[in-house]
Amino acid sequence: MHTPIKLALAAVAAAAALSTSAQNAPQSAPQKAPLKVGLMLPNTGTFAALGDNIEKGFRLYVNEQGGKLAGREIQYFKVDDESDPAKATDNVNKLIKRDQVDVLVGTVHSGVALAMARAAKESNTLLIVPNAGADAITGAQCAPNIFRSSFSNWQPGYATGVVAAQKGYKRAMTITWNYAAGNETVKGFTESFEKGGGKVVKDLSLPFPNVEFQALLTEIAAQKPDVVFAFFAGGGAVKFVKDYDAAGLRKTVPLMGSGFLTDGTLEAQGAAAQGLITTLHYADDIDTPRNNAFRKGFALAYKANADVYAVQGYDAAQLLGAGLTAVGGDFTKRPEMLYAMGKTVIGSPRGKFGMSTSRNPVQDFYIREAKGNYNVVTGVAVKALADPGRGCKS
Ligand code: BEZ
Repeated sequence: MHTPIKLALAAVAAAAALSTSAQNAPQSAPQKAPLKVGLMLPNTGTFAALGDNIEKGFRLYVNEQGGKLAGREIQYFKVDDESDPAKATDNVNKLIKRDQVDVLVGTVHSGVALAMARAAKESNTLLIVPNAGADAITGAQCAPNIFRSSFSNWQPGYATGVVAAQKGYKRAMTITWNYAAGNETVKGFTESFEKGGGKVVKDLSLPFPNVEFQALLTEIAAQKPDVVFAFFAGGGAVKFVKDYDAAGLRKTVPLMGSGFLTDGTLEAQGAAAQGLITTLHYADDIDTPRNNAFRKGFALAYKANADVYAVQGYDAAQLLGAGLTAVGGDFTKRPEMLYAMGKTVIGSPRGKFGMSTSRNPVQDFYIREAKGNYNVVTGVAVKALADPGRGCKS
């Protein structure tokens, strides 16, 4: 078994050997400058833990490659986006204009990511989105320099609607935050649920990131649908699941959600979340050598359990690594690099996946059940689900 101390010592020795050989290298040998990666993620607010695990996942993959991708050292620049769309353009420009990063990696919140995508498109900066599902990023606003290592909002919503219809539910209510991620996830749910014979009888929402759910829970109790579909994540998901349970609703109206409702949150949700059924492109107990090694590496490095956000960060680094490797680390070979990123198959902890033509993962969606602190697989909701990429023309 590796010990972190042994690994750290090995890294120091390797760095010393490298610096000696660099000093002795002939003057003419060009030394590749570090690749500048701008991480724009939430470090504060309801999505702080999500941003933290994305960064940890990204760094874990880079560290596993000895701190380099395709021979290029990685230099990090960071901005806390606070999940605040109003500050997003200023924040992303700190990375693009002030720090002059080569690659942008971010973010969690769909509204913030839409502003990042606009800025990336205008400046032609490579952007890898490691969470935010805003459909337009790989739809109407798509661009050859914009990739996602996560999902589109439509995907987990659609997959959950398939499962809810298969369970025989006929009347559903939905509840979410009123912003792109919530609305688009609900739209995906409604599309497949109604195709499967169900009917969404009412959509409920509240502004992001409010957590005053009481009036909406009272309305659910009054309407008594067969099932409630919810999109919440991070701190908001913790509060919602606890409030739903405390209101006594779990005994009368089954609660389903896209997997963000219970991912990275189970410890804080405790008994209130036990048995909840969700769908997502990851589950903790996927029993493959790839997932087991990833989870072990993450636990050793950070003394914590990995979750879907860590996976998406890890895979953002894998995607960048695949592109860089295809051009021998030469970032100036942009067309070849982007082509390789679009064609690569990522050996992800979630299972292998490739990119759609609009550069969004084509991936399996798992049915999961919350058991203890884990979301465990109970089946596959939809295999190789591809976002339709509506409106993407490049
Ligand atoms: C979003 O804003 O796109 C999002 C945030 C948290 C989890 C999933 C999606």
